[in-house]
Amino acid sequence: MRSVKIAVARETREGEARVAMVPELVGKLTGLGYEVLVEPGAGESAEFADEEYAEAGATLSESALSDADVVVAVQPLDGAAIGRLREGAATISFLPVNSEQELVSRLRDAGVTSFAMELVPRISRAQSMDALSSQALVAGYRSAVVAAGLLRRFFPLNMTAAGTVQPAEVVVLGAGVAGLQAIATAKRLGAVVRAYDVRAAAAEEIRSMGAKSIDLELETLEGAGGYAREMTEDRAARQRDLLAPYIANADALITTAAVPGRQAPMLVTSAMVEAMKPGSVVVDLAAETGGNVEGSVAGKVVKIGHAQVWGGANVPSQMPGPASKLYAQNIVNLLTLMTTAGEKGDDGVTSAATFTPDFDDEIVAGSAVTHAGRIVHEPTREAIEGPAEPVVEPVETEPVETQPEPEAVEVPEADAIATQQLDLPYDQEADQ
Ligand code: NAI
Repeated sequence: MRSVKIAVARETREGEARVAMVPELVGKLTGLGYEVLVEPGAGESAEFADEEYAEAGATLSESALSDADVVVAVQPLDGAAIGRLREGAATISFLPVNSEQELVSRLRDAGVTSFAMELVPRISRAQSMDALSSQALVAGYRSAVVAAGLLRRFFPLNMTAAGTVQPAEVVVLGAGVAGLQAIATAKRLGAVVRAYDVRAAAAEEIRSMGAKSIDLELETLEGAGGYAREMTEDRAARQRDLLAPYIANADALITTAAVPGRQAPMLVTSAMVEAMKPGSVVVDLAAETGGNVEGSVAGKVVKIGHAQVWGGANVPSQMPGPASKLYAQNIVNLLTLMTTAGEKGDDGVTSAATFTPDFDDEIVAGSAVTHAGRIVHEPTREAIEGPAEPVVEPVETEPVETQPEPEAVEVPEADAIATQQLDLPYDQEADQ
């Protein structure tokens, strides 16, 4: 039987240094019974050499994409790469369906089955496939290290013969995966950390990291699945007023707040930054999605008042090695779910695996964007193709010979229906 080929794409987007598969995990895929192809140079910017992939059992090939049954990538493939795929091939990558509608249409038209890592449902069974969390962990760590690097003073308390140096005061806004990791890292570096999040469970999570929870006299804001809800402008203004003294007192402010499917909430005005002490630093991890801090610019350090304000741009890619390894593990776990593994024969050779995504599985159906020439992620389909045609019930009348045949109504196949009925916390949240 011909073996199923998994291709590892060389990333082409500017600023993307990660790779979707690391040499260390190639053996997991060959162990399942897949053949692994790697575009030459795919791992180079993450410090993984072609030879390491070859030693791990992969084949380096310039035609990896056109030969592939499944392509794994970090960023969505560009139009040219989609054009090289075989009809019926599959792609697994990040695929921001709201901002990449043209690519989604191309994937549909090319007959490609595409899966978006950000759409993997956040249920406990899918935790090992949750690339949003694995990459947020990297970004959160990085944000604290960047703050410590920009701040021209110590994070920890130092008691020396020459006197005592007080620890830095760090404030973290947003205590999800990235925020909690920023807190943990700043604590390890010895800073005094205070943090705030709108979710009810956050205060306890902040304290468990050894930080002080900033308790504001405000109602918590939780939507479906325990995720944050969007604030009203009045609530946002009150939150800013109450947070202002904490921020004015901070040496470093790290912001990580996000609301699924929405622009990042603006938590800190430039006037609040201007009130910070000389030499203060601000790290805005949400700069790419609108910014938590007014005036922050993704990929740049700008001066606001006395503070240096660092805007994050593809922050996980700034630590490409570990970020790639975590992402690759997410990919391996998702692929394993979609695989009927080959069997090890008496001769010790594993027979070929088959790629068999089960569209009745919540994780498979939830993350699928296009399949068999259709957009199967319903909110994206509606955004691109418009509202679904109402299903016209054939009118039951006495057949008259001159009556024309009733028009055929296209009935979606079972897998598309399964997708439409899915319980997707992110999309429900976005639709509210
Ligand atoms: P996120 O990246 O969407 O948002 C980051 C944080 O910003 C969240 O904690 C949110 O509450 C906070 N935030 C939003 N608006 C805010 C505002 N106005 N002021 C202050 N903070 C604000 O969230 P993330 O990190 O993806 O996950 C959030 C929660 O979900 C965490 O508790 C995490 O543990 C949980 N989670 C559960 C998973 C699962 O069940 N499989 C997987 C991943 C996360």
